[in-house]
Amino acid sequence: MQELAGTLLQPRSAERCDIAPRALLQIADDGRIAAAGPGPVKAGKTLGGPGCWIIPGFIDAHLHLPQWDRRGIDGLSLLDWQERVVFPAEARFRDAALAEKLTEDFVTGLIAHGTTTVAAFGSPFAEATDRSFKVFARRGFRAVFGQTLNDVDCPPGLCQEADEALDESRALAARWHGAENGRLNYAFSPRMPNSCSDKLMRGAAALAKMLKCYVQTHVAESAAEVHAVRQRFPDNVDDVDVFAETGLLTPRTLLGHGVFLDRNQRRQVAEAGTALVHCPTANQFLESGLMDYVAHRAAGIRIALGSSVAGGYELFMPQVAVACLNTAKTVKVHAMPRRSYTVPSPAEAWWLLTRGAAEALGMADRIGALEPGFDADLLVVRPEPWIAGLPTEQQASALLYTLKPQHIEHVFIAGKRVSK
Ligand code: GUN
Repeated sequence: MQELAGTLLQPRSAERCDIAPRALLQIADDGRIAAAGPGPVKAGKTLGGPGCWIIPGFIDAHLHLPQWDRRGIDGLSLLDWQERVVFPAEARFRDAALAEKLTEDFVTGLIAHGTTTVAAFGSPFAEATDRSFKVFARRGFRAVFGQTLNDVDCPPGLCQEADEALDESRALAARWHGAENGRLNYAFSPRMPNSCSDKLMRGAAALAKMLKCYVQTHVAESAAEVHAVRQRFPDNVDDVDVFAETGLLTPRTLLGHGVFLDRNQRRQVAEAGTALVHCPTANQFLESGLMDYVAHRAAGIRIALGSSVAGGYELFMPQVAVACLNTAKTVKVHAMPRRSYTVPSPAEAWWLLTRGAAEALGMADRIGALEPGFDADLLVVRPEPWIAGLPTEQQASALLYTLKPQHIEHVFIAGKRVSK
């Protein structure tokens, strides 16, 4: 049994984030939370203590491992950036040893930023993808991960034959889906409709269904990308229709971005039970557009947040959540009439970072909450001390906007301390 002491931050719903000062959290030997509630705090082996807060670990539901060391390369829009930055970065992963080294950096960096769960894309190389899974397993990280699939309109070194790509992905899924007591899961990862053949998309959908795996892909990220999809699939209404027809629009699917989803597409995504991953920092960085978060939520879509590294430069998920709020404020300022628009609250931001994201990933019975029975994926942080002196209803907001990675003292995943 391990004991942590501090103020508990407990996101309960999109509307409610509870704060419990002077609390104690116990982690059982099976890595789950045994108890979380009022003290008493004893001196001794307890981690944390006065000045510390205990918060659920952050969930980053959309990013690209091979782009780890390509953050912050500005001045290009999505499709040009893909050609100039993304494809060369991914081509390096033919070298599996390099992929392994970068995976170590990726895990170290994310843990230092308080991220305890990711849904991430790999490269099109099976050996590199396998090595990354091995690193996740060894480091105790929690990940949904998969080999990126593309077989048309990408550089020759990255384009695969559909059959080969599907065979490799199937073998990876058989090896890793549900591994490490369910901490690791496989995502069939067709990059996006304009770089995948019909055969590849249908094959990925069929395998994901058969093996009960995730699917992750990109949707309606930029105007140019939407246009390119229309050109390639003239018989389909739009990209959501392409996914629906090929079987990729499922309750286990994570759609990245969705900046340009219209009202009908939002309804279709919500009805399919498909989750959307909002990536506000990347949408701004690549000048893709402003996603209307409030409209997506109102349509009933399950939403998580993604750093979208390296389209996004920001690793620290609270700042991605702040960008979500700022994007919603910008949309509101430009909305007519302004009064009809409600910006999400800081409590909703905390929920999106933790429990809401767990719901989007179908893991809400396991992670995202500081409650007995949940896996102990959590952070001990020491934020600026004045926050604790604010009226309780202001604390979650102040913590969201001012928390920094250097305030993180300990990171636990499934009850194991994974920080240095
Ligand atoms: N769409 C297809 N591939 C990518 C990628 O690597 N990053 C982003 N942001 N969008 C994409």
